[in-house]
Amino acid sequence: MCDYCGCHDSEPFAELAREHEVLENLGSELRTALGSGDERRARVLFERIVAVLGPHVRKEERGVLAQVIEEGGIFQRVTQKLIEEHHDLQHLIEHMDDVPADWAQEALHVLDALDAHIGNEEWDLFPAAVGLLSFEELEFMARIHAEEGSAIKPAR
Ligand SMILES: [Fe+2]
Ligand SMILES: [Fe+2]
Repeated sequence: MCDYCGCHDSEPFAELAREHEVLENLGSELRTALGSGDERRARVLFERIVAVLGPHVRKEERGVLAQVIEEGGIFQRVTQKLIEEHHDLQHLIEHMDDVPADWAQEALHVLDALDAHIGNEEWDLFPAAVGLLSFEELEFMARIHAEEGSAIKPAR
């Protein structure tokens, strides 16, 4: 996790980082469940991941990514790549049960892609974004986050 630039000191970045941590912990539990052959438990954990990921991705796309993409240049490219990764994850998740016998393998594939995506956000996006965004833009992000709520913390 990124602790070097101070981005986690700033809400709403801290909120996104907390959700990343929850996703990674659920992923780690899911790997353990699959390692012990418990696919039923793994499927429950996978549903939790999908539930957390939904509002998380909407917050990122309506909030931080929508703000940073307007900076253009390298920021636009980094942002577009992250949005493509969201689409790729969504596609993988939607096709998980195409071949039920391959579910466990597909689940590991999703977890690997999710880990890589979270790393890209924590290391490429958040440190740059926290230096770029104005107070008003951070407030905008916070409003979007409140609208979308969170599967780990209900919207107030
Ligand atoms: Fe994301
Ligand atoms: Fe994220």
